[in-house]
Amino acid sequence: MKHSIMINKELCISCSICVKDCPVSNIEIKDKKAQIISDSCLFCSHCKAICPKDAIEITGYSEDVEDIDKFLLNSSDLMKAIKTRRTIRNFKDEKISNEIIENIIEAGIYAPTARNNQDVSYVILDNKKDELESYAVNMFRKIIKFFKPFSKSLKRMEIDDKFFFKGAPIVIVIISPNKINGAIAAQNMAFMAESYDLGVLYSGLFSVAANKNKKIKRALELTGKNKVVTTLVIGYPAVKYHRIAYKEDAKVLRK
Ligand SMILES: Cc1cc2nc3c(=O)[nH]c(=O)nc-3n(C[C@H](O)[C@H](O)[C@H](O)COP(=O)(O)O)c2cc1C
Repeated sequence: MKHSIMINKELCISCSICVKDCPVSNIEIKDKKAQIISDSCLFCSHCKAICPKDAIEITGYSEDVEDIDKFLLNSSDLMKAIKTRRTIRNFKDEKISNEIIENIIEAGIYAPTARNNQDVSYVILDNKKDELESYAVNMFRKIIKFFKPFSKSLKRMEIDDKFFFKGAPIVIVIISPNKINGAIAAQNMAFMAESYDLGVLYSGLFSVAANKNKKIKRALELTGKNKVVTTLVIGYPAVKYHRIAYKEDAKVLRK
């Protein structure tokens, strides 16, 4: 969608807050009013969000932005959510509502992206899930057969029909030309999923298969520089963890 940005000069009080906040220094004060300098706007809407008089208008979006109610993210709850998260590989046979799926995607949309490119897209695998999984299974069975004699861990690996998606009700494939943008969106989505008592598996192996296999690429409509960054396998956990995981001490330098 094409966007344009305008400053309502009648509302502008030339406080300069937008000038200081613009990440690409694209706003100046002229004749005691804020004005846009060039067409280098990122459309990040920082100016819109920070203006105390709501004097900035950005066109071309399907919905207007909401005002922010003051709230405090509780740091101890947040740390608990981070620490108790586990990769789930065992799911209940229970559907996920469309409303929850939409909220998970919305959590991805609000992730930051480099230069506000918003170049992350999502494919929800629902009806086609089993078909795409079978392509990946066939591909991996061939690869594993070849490498099995050379690897201890591969020797015990059995690629059953549900090897990638573990029977989960929903899989969301995250696509972007930029790995970091896709990964941040994915983590937002994973936490949103967990807030609904859902469990998540990042399927790196399916992502590898998807980027290599022509049939999967076609089904995902992967074109140009777009790649599968990661794949979230999501469902209600059929397992319960009683303890938090061991982790190595942080490697931190302070200079
Ligand atoms: C990028 C990424 C890719 C992963 N790919 C797979 C995968 O293909 N299959 C799998 O069983 N687990 C996969 N995992 C899960 C990791 O194996 C898991 O995070 C690790 O075993 C630690 O367990 P925890 O997540 O419960 O702390 C992946 C995790 C990440 C972050």
